[in-house]
Amino acid sequence: MPVPDKNGTGNVAPVQTRVARIFADPEALSVAAAQRFVDAATAAISARGRFCASLSGGSTPKRLYQKLVEPSFIDRVDWSKVDLFFGDERCVPRDHPDSNYRMVHESLFNHAATRQARVFAVPVELAPEKAADAYADMVKHTVPQAIGLPRFDFMLLGVGADGHTASLFPGSAALNLRDRLTAAVYSTEKSNWRITLTLPTINNSAQTLVLLEGIAKAKIVAHLCSGEAPLGWPIEHITPRNTVEWYVDAAAASEIKARKPV
Ligand code: 6PG
Repeated sequence: MPVPDKNGTGNVAPVQTRVARIFADPEALSVAAAQRFVDAATAAISARGRFCASLSGGSTPKRLYQKLVEPSFIDRVDWSKVDLFFGDERCVPRDHPDSNYRMVHESLFNHAATRQARVFAVPVELAPEKAADAYADMVKHTVPQAIGLPRFDFMLLGVGADGHTASLFPGSAALNLRDRLTAAVYSTEKSNWRITLTLPTINNSAQTLVLLEGIAKAKIVAHLCSGEAPLGWPIEHITPRNTVEWYVDAAAASEIKARKPV
């Protein structure tokens, strides 16, 4: 079974369908993810003067956001040229403990430099459907288009234990939407409304980085890296036309089976 190398810089798990980069621990993973963010921002800003990123909610990316405001990273991005969106948001007030905006505000926007970025928060004060429409307009009018759809330079995603990503949950009708950039979805498990980017928007991204940490994600990671037939998880629909990278810590990689030599 592939194991992280001793300095945690990550090694490439020999998998057929997805190349999981494995890190010794969440700290090593957050350093590498911060470096990817900086690289993507640098490339986009030098190419067209701005960098458009969609941030993930949940708990996993918090360490990455905190890493970006540390001295080793903070000055490597011209934050005045950065546009930040959210892959999804819970329909709660921005100061609510469940708000993704609040989590990002506390972990990333607590620095004068990052406060120069333009932040496009989901208008959660509106009714869900209206919030989805208004957010779609913000995406459409800010994110550059490619093949007729908004193309984020950088799409950061997490994965729930049930295989959801953003707020695209198993069995959700939103998974079938092809003519909308965003959707309002009701999460029965979480008993709340959420606004999410849809698959056409997510899969049009220039670069996608998926973060998976912890033993709870081990079965999902093992299947994603197995090359076996998809189980229909929403995360399995993330097949961007462009690069997608899977950053996994050792705990989440603990059930990856070594590929039988062909
Ligand atoms: C959200 C996220 C969601 C998250 C997964 C994983 O709003 O909850 O966007 O898709 O990425 O639920 O969450 P953890 O990182 O907490 O495991």
